[in-house]
Amino acid sequence: MMSSRSISRVDPHVFVIFGGTGDLAQRKLIPSLYRLITDHEVRDGCVVLGVSRREVGDAGYRDWAKEALVESGLEADEVDTWCQGNLHHQALSDSDSGYGALRERIESIEAEHSLPGNRVFYMAIPPGAFATTIEGLGSSGLNQGAGWIRVVVEKPFGTDLESARALNDLLLSNFDETQIYRIDHYLGKATVQNLLTFRFTNPMFERLWNRDRVSRVEITVAEDLGIAGRAGYYERAGVVRDMVQNHLTQLLALVAMEPPNVFHADRIRDEKVKVITAVAPVEEDDVVYGRYEAGQRDGEEVPGYLEEAGVSADSMTPTFVGIRLYVDTWRWQGIPFLLRTGKRLPRRSTHIEVTFREPALCVFHGRRDDCVHEPDVLRIILEPDEGFDLRFNVKSPDEDTTIDTQALHFRYSDVYGKLPDAYQTLILDILEGDQTLFVRADEVEASWRLYDPLLERPPKLIGYTAGTWGPPEMDQGAPLGD
Ligand code: BG6
Repeated sequence: MMSSRSISRVDPHVFVIFGGTGDLAQRKLIPSLYRLITDHEVRDGCVVLGVSRREVGDAGYRDWAKEALVESGLEADEVDTWCQGNLHHQALSDSDSGYGALRERIESIEAEHSLPGNRVFYMAIPPGAFATTIEGLGSSGLNQGAGWIRVVVEKPFGTDLESARALNDLLLSNFDETQIYRIDHYLGKATVQNLLTFRFTNPMFERLWNRDRVSRVEITVAEDLGIAGRAGYYERAGVVRDMVQNHLTQLLALVAMEPPNVFHADRIRDEKVKVITAVAPVEEDDVVYGRYEAGQRDGEEVPGYLEEAGVSADSMTPTFVGIRLYVDTWRWQGIPFLLRTGKRLPRRSTHIEVTFREPALCVFHGRRDDCVHEPDVLRIILEPDEGFDLRFNVKSPDEDTTIDTQALHFRYSDVYGKLPDAYQTLILDILEGDQTLFVRADEVEASWRLYDPLLERPPKLIGYTAGTWGPPEMDQGAPLGD
């Protein structure tokens, strides 16, 4: 799960992308695969087979991929050789025989490139097509072979507990859990991975990481974009399914989990599941929903959610949510975890803030209620400009008793330059067979079990102007009360 690995442990394989000509393949998968090969993290012997309904043929697919790579910032002549040698395309028909033909195609590619039968099946397709694809892989025997076989499932993984269970059952009747990679791209972000390193190699902080020293934890994912033309999906999903059930809950689990005894994928995931299952049922009063109204972004007028193309006039879909949760464990009992995310907020900002308790007695003012200084805060910044700020109090030299807040800063970019893309990290993990950064069946179900009751209650929507910090009730980004 580390980003730059010089000695590749990746075996030659066929990387099959269902949705091979789709948006995700174009923006993330093809560029990541290409970079892994040119960075020598994956040796030659990675052959990509794009599968889609389009009849583009091999030559058309190579041109399409070349364009995708050029759009991602590479030069056309740099990528040409790889595209010519390693890319194929297979059109998939709706009938069962489509998967039989796909199997023949994969076997002929393996023979042509002398590959040992290792296969990745990446489902970069709409969730409605997951079931038929998994069944097709099973019925055609593509789920078995001479080498390793891994299946990658993109989000959303179900829309509630029942659908997630059904999808897990289907996957597990065709594959083994060790072959299944449920993606949450937040886990591929370097700073998210670093949460574990930070927590478990710096005992200085770990000693403070509990209800005795921490007064609250806030997890914020603010986006300045709207729904970016995805009304069809977003109308049904809404902010809890789109962001909270997966990304924010993964961040919560990493912040709140106990140290695993060993750094092993299943031991880490065991600890994450324990956190998610320990969250107390969310009370109605602990949730604030919002929906953006027309406003501004970068000085330009932007429409409200209801005016977005494809959104129905009577839509009740929230685009913002603030949730207060309590993790009922020995370490965290009684400490609020405030999860907050929304679209069309003033800027893109993802961070976790751990606020420490104030001194028992404020000696500079005599009485505690006179205390005017800020609490110490550790802010872990995931986007943009990844790093940490540790805020603490100092005496201002100007006046006798004035207490000032200052911060220690660390920024990844100052030390390491540009961080790798999350997909690049995750694809390398898939190829190396490392499941640490992927969500296990019980984890995804625990998360739906937590949010299902909340999703069953009709949301009380509060309007907020695009370009502001959400419903005015949220008090300019402040926590949901204490
Ligand atoms: C996706 C959501 O999973 O994550 C999008 O579907 C959201 O709605 C995106 O914009 C945010 O990801 P990131 O990496 O840009 O913070």
